[in-house]
Amino acid sequence: MAELIWDGKYKDGRKVAPLKVALPFQTVETINESAQERQHALDLFSKGGETEWRNRLIWGDKKYVLPSLLPEFSGKVDLIYIDPPFNTGGDFSFTTAIPEADETIVREASAIEQKAYRDTWGNGLDSYLKWFYDTVVMLKEFLSETGSLYVHLDVNVGHYAKAVLDEVFGPAAFQNEIIWKRTSARSDSHTYNHIHDVIFLYSRSDNFVYNVQYTPYDQTYLDNFYRYRDEGTGRRFRVSDLMAAGTRKGSSGKPWRGTNPATRGNHWKFATETLDVLDKEGRIYWPQKEGGVPGYKRYLDEMPGVPLQSIWTDIAPIAAQAQENTNYATQKPEALLERIMKASTNEGALVLDCFCGSGTTAAVAERLDRRWITCDLGRFAIHTARKRLLGISGVKPFVVQNLGKYERQQWQVQEFGEDAEAKIRAYRRFILRLYQAKELSGKVWLHGVKGGRMVHVGSVDSPVSAGDVTQIAKEVKQLIGTGQGAPDRAAVDVLGWDFAFEINELAKQQAQSAGLDVRFVHIPREVLEKKAVEQGDIKFFELAALSVKTEVSKRKLSVELADFMMSLDDVPDDVRQAVKHWSQWIDYWAVDWDYKGDAFHNQWQSYRTRKEPKLQLQTEYTYAQPGEYTLMVKVIDILGNDTTKTIKVKAE
Ligand SMILES: C[S@@+](CC[C@H](N)C(=O)[O-])C[C@H]1O[C@@H](n2cnc3c(N)ncnc32)[C@H](O)[C@@H]1O
Repeated sequence: MAELIWDGKYKDGRKVAPLKVALPFQTVETINESAQERQHALDLFSKGGETEWRNRLIWGDKKYVLPSLLPEFSGKVDLIYIDPPFNTGGDFSFTTAIPEADETIVREASAIEQKAYRDTWGNGLDSYLKWFYDTVVMLKEFLSETGSLYVHLDVNVGHYAKAVLDEVFGPAAFQNEIIWKRTSARSDSHTYNHIHDVIFLYSRSDNFVYNVQYTPYDQTYLDNFYRYRDEGTGRRFRVSDLMAAGTRKGSSGKPWRGTNPATRGNHWKFATETLDVLDKEGRIYWPQKEGGVPGYKRYLDEMPGVPLQSIWTDIAPIAAQAQENTNYATQKPEALLERIMKASTNEGALVLDCFCGSGTTAAVAERLDRRWITCDLGRFAIHTARKRLLGISGVKPFVVQNLGKYERQQWQVQEFGEDAEAKIRAYRRFILRLYQAKELSGKVWLHGVKGGRMVHVGSVDSPVSAGDVTQIAKEVKQLIGTGQGAPDRAAVDVLGWDFAFEINELAKQQAQSAGLDVRFVHIPREVLEKKAVEQGDIKFFELAALSVKTEVSKRKLSVELADFMMSLDDVPDDVRQAVKHWSQWIDYWAVDWDYKGDAFHNQWQSYRTRKEPKLQLQTEYTYAQPGEYTLMVKVIDILGNDTTKTIKVKAE
C-alpha cells in the first residue's frame, strides 16, 4: 500500500509509537449529584467497590488523557467524534464580553495552549501528521467491535488525514467522506470558494452500528410524484402499481372489480381477498377515466423521506442569536452531532470526544441519552462546556476531572531524577530560577529571596496547607534580622501548584496576626512544558481574593458574595476602566453546602447566560440537620480561572 511519510515517522527503521503513560484521574468537581448519591459514592469508594457511571469532563491534553483512559475503556467506546484544531493560531484565543459593559477582552492563547499549537503545527504539515497519527492510533484502541470514528476536518488537511486514517484503520474500514456545507456562498476567493468541511467515517469492523437517517423529499419530487390528495383528510399520496409482471393461476391472477390483470400479462401484487380489505381501508385509488387501472395509494406522511446521502447541505451554521450559541469560535451545530449520533449509536452508547471545545458532543449525547467522556486542554473550553451542560434541563450528574499531581510527579522524576532529596533540591532551584528569585540555602521552609521578600516553593504532590503557612511564618520570624541572607522585612511569597481550600481564609489571618505580609502565588502548569520554559512564556499569578459573607439563623444559611479581586495582569486598561463593580469579573459561582474534603460538590450555582446576563450574588440554604458544616464557594472569573473558599458554619 502506498504510504505517507512525515518527518519523525520512523526511528531506526521502526514506526514511532505514541507516548502511552496511564496516570490516575482526580475528580475536582461533581455536578448535579444528590446528597444521597454522593454519600453512596463515598461509601462505595471507601469499601473499594465500583462506583456508578458518571459522565466525564476532563481538563487536560489528549496526549495524557487518552492513554490514562485506555486501561478502563479499551474496546468500549461506541462512537468517537473529533473536530481537531485547525491550522490557525486562533484556535485557542477567545473573546469574552465584560458583563453589563460594552467592552470585550480578547484573551490570547496561554503558554500551554500555544505549546499545544506548536506541538501540532510547529513543524508545519509534518508535525501535524505526526500529532494526528498519534491521536488516531490511540483512538482506534478505544472503539468497540460495532463502533465508529468520525473525523471532522477541512480542505487544508483532510486528504492527508485520509491517507493516515487508511494506514491506521486499513482502507476497508473507510465508510464515507461526508461533505458538510458549513456556510453559505461567499465571494472572496480567486477560484471556487471553500464552503464545506469534510467528515471521514471509519468503522472498527464490518459489524458497525448504522441507523439509516432520512431527509425530507425536495419540492420538485413532491410536485412530480405526490400529486394527489384525499378528499376530507387532505392527506397527500402518490399512486403506485397494484400489478406486477407475469400471470398467475391463484387468486392474484384473477379479474378483480372488472379488471383482468392477465390481459396485460400481469398479476395483482395481492390476493383479491386482500385487495378487498385494502379497498375498504381506502388504500385503493380508482381513476376517473373509463377502463383506468386501480392503483395503490402511498401516503407521504407514511414515507420516511430520502435516505441520507454523503453530501449534507441542510445543516446551517450556528446563528448569532441561536440558543445553542456559546460564542466559542469553533463551535459546531448540535444538529450535526445529533445526526451523527443517531446514525452511529443507540441509546446508552458511550461517546468520546477528545477535543471538546464548547462541549457540543457532550451536550448532544446528554440530550440523546448517550454516555459521554470529553476532554480539552483549554481552561475556557472546560468552563464553557460545564455551563452549557448545566443549562440542559435534567442533566445527569457528571464529574470534572484532571490529572493534577500525577502529571507533575511524573514530570519531576523525568526532569530531576529518582533520588528523593536531590530531586527536590533541583526542582526548587528550577522554580526559583523561573520566578527570578535567588536561592536561600540551609532552611527548611524558606527557599529563596526576591525583591526583599522571602520565597517558599510548594511541593508538586500536595497543596500548600494552613499548617505549612504556620511553619513558614515561624521560620521567617527566626530569620529576620539574623543577616543569614534573608531580608529585613517579614514578607513572603508562597508559591504552590495547589492551595488547600482554607488558605485564603485561615492562612491569611494567621499570617496577619503573626505580622507577616504573605502573598499566595500559583505555579502555572506551563512550567511542565520544556518549550514554554525555554521561550520564557512562564507567568506566575497571584491567587484571586474572594470575600464571602455568611449568616446563619437556626438552620437557614444565607451566603453572599461580598468582594472579588482577580489578577489584572492580562487585562487591558480600557477594560479595567469599563468595570464599575467587582462582580463584573465573575462569570459563574457555585456552592457546596457540605464540603467533605473530597471533591467540590456543586449543589447550587448562578451563572451568566446570553438570556440572563445578570448574576445572582446571594443565595440561601436550609440544612436538614443541626450540626457544623463546611461550606465551599467556587467562583469562576470571566477568563475561566477559578477561586475557592471554605467557611465553617453552625446550624442549630
Ligand atoms: C475545533 S475545536 C472543537 C470545537 C467543538 N467541536 C465544538 O463544537 O465546540 C478544537 C478544540 O481542541 C482543543 N485542543 C487542541 N489541542 C488539544 C489537545 N492536544 N488536547 C486536548 N484538546 C485540544 C482546543 O482547545 C479546542 O477547544
